Amino acid sequence: MPQYFGKLPTTDQPWTKIGQVEAWKQYDRTIIFDCDSSKFSIAVLAPNLLRVRLAPQGEFTERPSWAVTRDDSEWAPIPFDVNDTDTSVQIKTESIHIYIDKSTSRITCFDLDGRPFATDATTNMGWRLGAVAGWKCIETDEHFYGFGERTGLLDKRSEVKTNWTTDALDYGSLTDEMYHAIPFFIALRPHVAYGIFFNTTFWSQFDIGAEQPGVWKMETRGGELDYYIIYGPKPAQILDTYTQLTGKMPLPPKWSIGYHQCRWSYESEEVVRTLAQEFRNRRIPCDVIHLDIDYMQGFRVFTWSPARFSNPEKLINDLKQNGFKTVTIIDPGVKYEPEADYHVFDEGIKNDYFVRQADGRLFHGYVWPDKSVFPDFLRADVQKWWGDLHKSLTDIGIAGIWNDMNEPAINDRPFGDGGVHIWFPLDAPQGKENNTTHAEVHNLYGLNMAKASAEGLIKHRKSERSFVLTRSGFAGVQRYSSVWMGDNQSQWEHLEMSLPMLCNMGLSGVAFVGCDIGGFAGNATAELFARWMQVGMLYPLMRAHSAMSTARHEPWVFGERVENICREYINLRYQLIPFFYTLFWQAATTGAPLIRPLVYEYPNDPKTYTLSDQVLLGSDLMAAPIYRPGVEHRAVYLPSGTWYDWWTGEKYVDGATHILAHAPLEKMPLYARAGAVIPMQQVTQYIDEHPLNELQLLIFPGNSEYTLYEDDGNSFEYQKDIYSTTKISVSTEAEQVIVKIAPRQGKWKPIRRRIIVKVQGLGEQSFEDEGKENLLRFTETRFPHH
Ligand code: GLC
Repeated sequence: MPQYFGKLPTTDQPWTKIGQVEAWKQYDRTIIFDCDSSKFSIAVLAPNLLRVRLAPQGEFTERPSWAVTRDDSEWAPIPFDVNDTDTSVQIKTESIHIYIDKSTSRITCFDLDGRPFATDATTNMGWRLGAVAGWKCIETDEHFYGFGERTGLLDKRSEVKTNWTTDALDYGSLTDEMYHAIPFFIALRPHVAYGIFFNTTFWSQFDIGAEQPGVWKMETRGGELDYYIIYGPKPAQILDTYTQLTGKMPLPPKWSIGYHQCRWSYESEEVVRTLAQEFRNRRIPCDVIHLDIDYMQGFRVFTWSPARFSNPEKLINDLKQNGFKTVTIIDPGVKYEPEADYHVFDEGIKNDYFVRQADGRLFHGYVWPDKSVFPDFLRADVQKWWGDLHKSLTDIGIAGIWNDMNEPAINDRPFGDGGVHIWFPLDAPQGKENNTTHAEVHNLYGLNMAKASAEGLIKHRKSERSFVLTRSGFAGVQRYSSVWMGDNQSQWEHLEMSLPMLCNMGLSGVAFVGCDIGGFAGNATAELFARWMQVGMLYPLMRAHSAMSTARHEPWVFGERVENICREYINLRYQLIPFFYTLFWQAATTGAPLIRPLVYEYPNDPKTYTLSDQVLLGSDLMAAPIYRPGVEHRAVYLPSGTWYDWWTGEKYVDGATHILAHAPLEKMPLYARAGAVIPMQQVTQYIDEHPLNELQLLIFPGNSEYTLYEDDGNSFEYQKDIYSTTKISVSTEAEQVIVKIAPRQGKWKPIRRRIIVKVQGLGEQSFEDEGKENLLRFTETRFPHH
């Protein structure tokens, strides 16, 4: 609140600012600077990657590496020069120059053309009781993206962003703390972009020019000032390096990129069976059904309600026969229930797995099962125990786990009893041998729960990939889980906001993201639901969900017109599965997001800097959805180059221009870039319905190269190199489009199939796929050019 209604008086101590450099010394890749009683260091980890640390008392502490998967020593050595002058120390890598002013200890970086970035402000590094901070300059026309899960629009300049995982119930565009905390952002202006990863799990905050225009600040309430500077200049390069630091995502099972249906709750076996059959009868593709908390007995995790789900194994197996995977929700709160033979509680107590307060008493709070206790997921033994508990679910066929309430969300009184949100006391001991306190690891609770789930599923589902979804996480959550944006609302504003929210998640290294289609809280109107399903088709995770006591939100509840729209867009999603799957491979190998703001691909075009209502899927498909009621026209920005209307094939040659799109309810404006290669398949009712004997390559005339990725979509064989890639190049000369398909590389082989190559406006050709080179020419014949 104070953030938006003016600053309240503060009793905080003033900052002690770092002094001048008195001496410096190089130790291998790290240069340590002595400044009076404090020290700071700069480690050169890669040509575009620096790590800066400040030890206010002059002692660098051993820092546990919670989010960073690579120790400084694990980066390949690189050449760099260090030069000393009277006034400065200068470090040069092959990509950047770093200048350290000795009289102030200010650090400035320059690109090879001498453009400054990540320049320390006049007050550069400082500390006071319980906090450390760093300040840097905001350049003219600099814009700020990422910051993990954030509401509002795309660019976060002049805002304050706090990193503290919170149950952000009822969030809106002014909400600060969200479910995920990812202390990472990208600063960008024409030709220059860099990322900052603030390596702290304690409460931390970025102030992007809110307090002082022209200066951004990072502050944390614990440990050291420890941050990484990642130079681009392209956002893609920043994300590649950032995901080398915090980890890449694994490939998801292909079925998890199909359509998911969820509701709080499909509360009984009968309801679930009817739901599933409804999808099949109506020929609306669906792969996944989620079971919310009511499948459990009295909300006890790892139990089933005998009254409502008398034979879950049979249900799950029947669903499987009908092509559905089942995902169950698991919350961290374990019902406090001594002497009731509740095995999860009993085992946790026996082994002392639950979080205790500093005075040694068991911590408890209130969640769905009322009085509950909470596993200490920081501990490896607890993670293993929790992971193994999933065996009871995987044994009966559960294919994925949905982790909720893991910020953790806790009340001080039973739900519905007017309580307030609390969290574990900040001094609650956590970790093996209680080696830290909740203040340091609060932000990691969701991440470690998701890790425990992911590892449990890998262990117990053996050769099959699983799906994990988590509401809370920290930097690096992409290694274990997909995420969704928590409890949104059935409001047009939330539909609009979903795009910049997901784009900023993608710019924070988390590619497998989605929002509840239709909105969780409240009732969607028919029009809102239709528009949301169109946008939902673009979400990497395509899941519809709705809350208890709201109207149903399945594709058919709004009448035939909306049902047809839902079917059409879900069908399109299924046709685009090879395209999406290749994007997931890009995310898994390079950290690139699937859903991208235009600024990601056009970082030198200032028109894209605040563009929040258009997105790219990969680099070639662009959507300009409608997100307001009664609107059938909208302005669409076409960045430089040639674009094609997806639906009509109309060609726009000028680029860097606006057009007015006509979009009746049936239509979401969609465009393909010249040269786009879009691999597509037939519509199936679920991903593995039948082997596909056709692959279509939809091509838009232009010049480009594309790599298609394929594997079995379900096992871990791809990690043993059983996958294939196919390079497709498109070139356009005069009236001819030449499509060259290079021989398939790699060990994975498709079944016998035809490849149909369709060039927009120029017809199609097809051939039997033998994995060999193929050169196809397409010429305009209908309207010969004279
Ligand atoms: C939380 C979740 C929501 C879920 C509900 C009941 O509000 O965010 O998705 O349906 O709890 O489990």
